[in-house]
Amino acid sequence: MQCLKQKPFKATRPFASRTRCVVRCHAKLRQSEGALLAATGAAVLAMSSTSTAHATELLSSANGLDGSLTFAVGGGVAIAGLGALLVATDPQKRRTEQMAQTGGDEKEAVKNYFNTAGFERWRKIYGETSEVNKVQLDIRTGHAQTVEKVLRWVDEEGGVPGTTVCDAGCGTGSLAIPLALRGATVSASDISAAMAGEAERRYQEALVATGSKAPKVAPKFEAMDLESIQGSYHTVTCLDVMIHYPQDKVDGMISHLASLANNRLIISFAPKTLSYSILKRIGELFPGPSKATRAYLHREEDVEAALQRAGFKVTKREMTATSFYFSRLLEAVRN
Ligand SMILES: C[S@@+](CC[C@H](N)C(=O)[O-])C[C@H]1O[C@@H](n2cnc3c(N)ncnc32)[C@H](O)[C@@H]1O
Repeated sequence: MQCLKQKPFKATRPFASRTRCVVRCHAKLRQSEGALLAATGAAVLAMSSTSTAHATELLSSANGLDGSLTFAVGGGVAIAGLGALLVATDPQKRRTEQMAQTGGDEKEAVKNYFNTAGFERWRKIYGETSEVNKVQLDIRTGHAQTVEKVLRWVDEEGGVPGTTVCDAGCGTGSLAIPLALRGATVSASDISAAMAGEAERRYQEALVATGSKAPKVAPKFEAMDLESIQGSYHTVTCLDVMIHYPQDKVDGMISHLASLANNRLIISFAPKTLSYSILKRIGELFPGPSKATRAYLHREEDVEAALQRAGFKVTKREMTATSFYFSRLLEAVRN
């Protein structure tokens, strides 16, 4: 653990205690739950909202911090206090309230978010500008690693020239654009029209900036929820989207995406392990702004079972974990 002397987080009792130690709050997994609890502060705040990545990013906006947080803990006393808070707070109640604000329609809430505040936030994170804080920069780095892993798999498996790829929930085109520039025939879509529009703009910009040859078939960028995508594609990709939905919805999403994929499905999600669940639960003590959406972790077994039911078997796995970004990446091929 690393000590840090930045804007201190004003811990109220029971956080305060005799032996105060200032802990840099990294979200890296620790061996024991106690150590984990003591070490999580900042990262956890993050995990309370939107995506694995989202969550953390909220740290800055929700708490006025710039991505670093000092968190005073006092050994066992602090952990006990934290435990009491865990019991006292009721994330389900807050979720219900959030749902009520959007008329109970979760997908609509996600769409609104990514067309408004979320668009502004994620446009920066998935960009190259310096208008990001430390947490956002860390998320940008983690997400870029996930994208690189997918591109490495794709390149190792013979590349994509001439193959059809559907990128569902394309965001600003972080994956769709390099795939198109590699010669794939890309159909990229996103529930947010703002995101899909930004992806198209970035594609045009990338063509000029990289001097790349345009693919034979120009990529298509559309505003559409993934449940409405039609057609059949060699490869279907869906990165960091499922975090917005509970497992029953994710089962349906996987089943639909699988029905579109002739050969390969590449998906990523925030893995539900004991450690990440604890992180998320602590994060729920620090509700983000109302503009945020909910975040769901998924058990790898559940995701794999949904893939199996859809006739796919997992052939490759990767994990990306930076301080504030956690994403499990799976490649599955049709049985
Ligand atoms: C965290 S971003 C990831 C973007 C992109 N996949 C990437 O990795 O760069 C999540 C994206 O999923 C989109 N999204 C959320 N729910 C969706 C749905 N049901 N159908 C299509 N897109 C969705 C959001 O609008 C947002 O752009």
